[in-house]
Amino acid sequence: MKILVVGSGAREHALVWKLAAEPDVSSVLCAPGNPGIARIAACRPVDPADVDGLLALAAAEGADVTIVGPELPLSLGLVDRFAAAGRTAFGPTAEAARLETSKIFAKEFCARHHVPTARFRVCDSAGAALAVVASGEFGWPVVLKADGLAAGKGVVIAQDRAEAEAAVRDAMVDRRFGNAGERLVIEEHLTGQEMSFFVVADGHCAVPLLSAQDHKRAYDDDQGPNTGGMGAFAPSPLFTPDLHKRIMREIIEPVLDGMAAEGRPYCGFLYAGLMLTADGPQVIEFNVRLGDPEAQVVLPMIDEPLLPLLAAAVTRQLRRTGCRIRHQPHVGVVLASAGYPGKYPAGQAISGVTDAEALDDVLVFHAGTAMRDGQLITAGGRVLTVVGRGPDYRAAIARAYAGVARIEFDGMQFRHDIGRKALASAPSV
Ligand code: AMP
Ligand code: GLY
Repeated sequence: MKILVVGSGAREHALVWKLAAEPDVSSVLCAPGNPGIARIAACRPVDPADVDGLLALAAAEGADVTIVGPELPLSLGLVDRFAAAGRTAFGPTAEAARLETSKIFAKEFCARHHVPTARFRVCDSAGAALAVVASGEFGWPVVLKADGLAAGKGVVIAQDRAEAEAAVRDAMVDRRFGNAGERLVIEEHLTGQEMSFFVVADGHCAVPLLSAQDHKRAYDDDQGPNTGGMGAFAPSPLFTPDLHKRIMREIIEPVLDGMAAEGRPYCGFLYAGLMLTADGPQVIEFNVRLGDPEAQVVLPMIDEPLLPLLAAAVTRQLRRTGCRIRHQPHVGVVLASAGYPGKYPAGQAISGVTDAEALDDVLVFHAGTAMRDGQLITAGGRVLTVVGRGPDYRAAIARAYAGVARIEFDGMQFRHDIGRKALASAPSV
């Protein structure tokens, strides 16, 4: 089969890397891709937001299945457009993607289907939001979330009333997130440890993939501003067979049943962001895709071909309950440009990627990179993800940082503590 992968980040590099080595895959095409992807797949310069352009590309190239990395094309209805044109794309329809594109939809959906999540209120105006804040009904801190896609910046954890009022004004009066902040969710602040869980769903059934943990803050010890993710590890040591059962029974199954009952069956990767509270796992958010950088550690752990799983999901024939997983933890460290997640320079020469890739148990996935006169240069905030694996977390961390040590560019910024949380929780898997 000929596969088209949509996207240009390290998550898509990991997807292409995984698929390109599989027996049922004759070739992989990527739009728009990046220099790392270009070494293993043909890249075409079509923007992920250009759904018509992607459809034309899939038709012209005869792609049998299109796999979408980022949420934007899904929110724009790529899967619906492809289906209408008789082409196969793996991912949720625009209606099903509302689990990610509208926090209000996701919260109200959870309430309708008794999926555990923080208590919340939906606010349609600044006045209504300020009244909820003034009531103090959720105590402090309190969490405020812009309804729409806000590039990971739409969530504020306000420590007191003044901070909460400022967040309401920011979103609803100054419109910092544009239309995405026209409505807000205000919710109870949950305490516990955070974990992500990934499944492949076919509209009715799900095959669990893995648990993982992200590192969202820019600096060591979870300090500094929020980012798209500075590193991840899988599996999460917090994940136990009992927890697995609870997550499937209390969260994944009711979500799939509820989406199907509401006439928007969910097909695609589903990412549940969870808080493990004293009362059990609760949903913090859904994403309708794999996470980045979680995909870079989750995909290399899947110890069987991915395409048959995705193809079965697309045809609603996912008749299995699991897939084979490598029993080796994976740790991924993101190398970012100086200044990320704020302003950063581009065009810095990158060295050492080939050396890092040559190391045993080290993988390097490209994100914001470009080629200039035969030289690899930086071209984005998150530049590379370096993944290490080993018999335990300590070994996997050591491999990842051995890879990092080979790579250099001006202003290279990364966290030094990726995976440390896993060591604190358990000595090994
Ligand atoms: P989100 O963009 O929904 O993933 O939220 C970003 C981050 O805010 C999450 O990863 C959590 O760390 C935190 N967060 C969101 N909602 C809550 C909540 N109800 N209680 C505590 N922390 C939360
Ligand atoms: N790493 C978090 C995300 O992809 O949304």
